[in-house]
Amino acid sequence: MKQHLRFAISFFILTFFAKNTFAQSPASANPNAKWWKEAIIYQIYPRSFKDADGDGIGDLKGIISKLDYIKSLGVTAVWLNPIYSSPNDDNGYDVSDYRNIMKDFGTMEDFDALLKGLHERGIKLVMDFVLNHSSDEHKWFQQSRSSRYNIYRDYYHWWNAENGKPPYRYSLFDVNGDAWKYDSLTNAYYLHYFSRKQPDLNWENPTLRQEVFDIMKFWADKGIDGFRLDAFQFAAKDTTYPGFPNGFEKKFNLYYAMQGNLHGYLQQMYHEVFSKYDVMSVAEGAGNSFADAHNLVDSNRHELNMTYAFDGVDIPKPEGYSLLHFKEVFSKWDSAFQNDGWLSIFLSNHDQARMVSRFGNDSPPFRDLSSKMLATFIMTMRGTPYFYYGDELGMTNIRFDDIRDYRDIETLNAYEHQKNIGGDLKKFMKLKAFESRDNGRTPFQWNHSTNAGFTSGTPWIKVNPNYKTINEETENADPNSVLNYFKNVVNLRKTHPALVYGKYDLLDKTNPDVYAYTRTGEGEKLLILLNFTSKNAKANIKIDLSKANLLLSNYKIPPSLDQGNIVLRPYESMVYKLPR
Ligand code: NOJ
Repeated sequence: MKQHLRFAISFFILTFFAKNTFAQSPASANPNAKWWKEAIIYQIYPRSFKDADGDGIGDLKGIISKLDYIKSLGVTAVWLNPIYSSPNDDNGYDVSDYRNIMKDFGTMEDFDALLKGLHERGIKLVMDFVLNHSSDEHKWFQQSRSSRYNIYRDYYHWWNAENGKPPYRYSLFDVNGDAWKYDSLTNAYYLHYFSRKQPDLNWENPTLRQEVFDIMKFWADKGIDGFRLDAFQFAAKDTTYPGFPNGFEKKFNLYYAMQGNLHGYLQQMYHEVFSKYDVMSVAEGAGNSFADAHNLVDSNRHELNMTYAFDGVDIPKPEGYSLLHFKEVFSKWDSAFQNDGWLSIFLSNHDQARMVSRFGNDSPPFRDLSSKMLATFIMTMRGTPYFYYGDELGMTNIRFDDIRDYRDIETLNAYEHQKNIGGDLKKFMKLKAFESRDNGRTPFQWNHSTNAGFTSGTPWIKVNPNYKTINEETENADPNSVLNYFKNVVNLRKTHPALVYGKYDLLDKTNPDVYAYTRTGEGEKLLILLNFTSKNAKANIKIDLSKANLLLSNYKIPPSLDQGNIVLRPYESMVYKLPR
């Protein structure tokens, strides 16, 4: 008994020591070590996390009430979707006051308490900055549209109507796909790449740029730890507005991203803001090539720390996807960034449907296993991992079949558009059940009480009915749950620097079912084996595992290594430490 106790105490001391040594002096021998490379980022969609005041909308006090839960996950940073004042045309991505908190979410005092609570728990905060556009209800736009001679006129992009119709530009959220909106007040069109209520800001204007940098400094002075730049690759425009070749008007990334003086603006932002604080910076979108992505993040350029590319999340289709393609995409990105630059690793966020429903298998026999397998993938790749709230429970798509259940402007306007052009609405609804962003925005499932414990009021969007079985309380009590597996895989990443900095080598490249790779760092080599199918699948690798140490597996019964054959069970994931 005593011996047991001694063992338990020394194990605790060792684990504590290992964890904290790595947390505080990361890979000390590594001159490229940075806290943001070692960060494990947990994304919270504030509207859907926890409602404290019963209005059916998640809020900052709600998040504060769950800080210990967030801490228990082991994550080291939180990314919050926009929380600034907003009329909510696009759930906060239409900001009407960048220095205030959205009423639905609370007050600046709540924000200060949230930041303090996170920091007290050793968790950093990354804020979302929407700088390609503002809300049309922002005072800048109200002034800008009031007269052609107003000092705010050049904060936005205007085209005077006496010059005829402006050259066509595509809008992602407009019902007619038209990015120019006519405003009779001054007989001119304004540009909006997103909704009509999200007019694009004019980054060519140095006064606007200075205003934006001041806003960023306002938040950095409060002590936030990072900036996520929303849609920033579209911020610079060719304001001579050349016509695009026929058929290419809608090629959004190719013709709308990485234009004009974008890099100049980022370098100025670095000089004015990032260089003055210990903050991380990440941009949404990586341009059109590896060269574009490098130009955004290579450290000698003084622009950003990292970016995230969409190639990975764009892979799944309702009819399925090929693992060979998936491996190719992630391996290509890794090899392009093995010497310079840094990437983000993610399979879901608020613009995607649920990870397990797209990349895994959310049917009852496989939801749990495939969620764990995907979490293993994210936590064992090189790049900073981003994990979306609810994926740690294996939350699934809700699959609305009635358009009235949707809340997202993208889906609602696309539906209107289909209706207007006499499109196939049944087909549309089927597609949206697979891919709509609202699938990933349903309330967090805390327990099996009404509304999953998210709110005492009426939730702003329906709760997934599977909350009775998939919820935090139930999973917390089950040592084999997705939630508890997630905590283990997070801890694995934190205690093995090779998973952060180590070299990535793809094995068994042509295997259509199994993703196998090694991560080799100073003094250790780890092997990761992932079965992406619902069948047994053989890994064709020539590594003797008899002396390897199994660090983590998503099956209770360890794998049998029959005569060196490695056969993975459905959605099995394993992480081995290989002998040196
Ligand atoms: C990208 C954001 O992630 C998305 O949610 C938003 O709708 C658009 N940018 C417009 O801000």
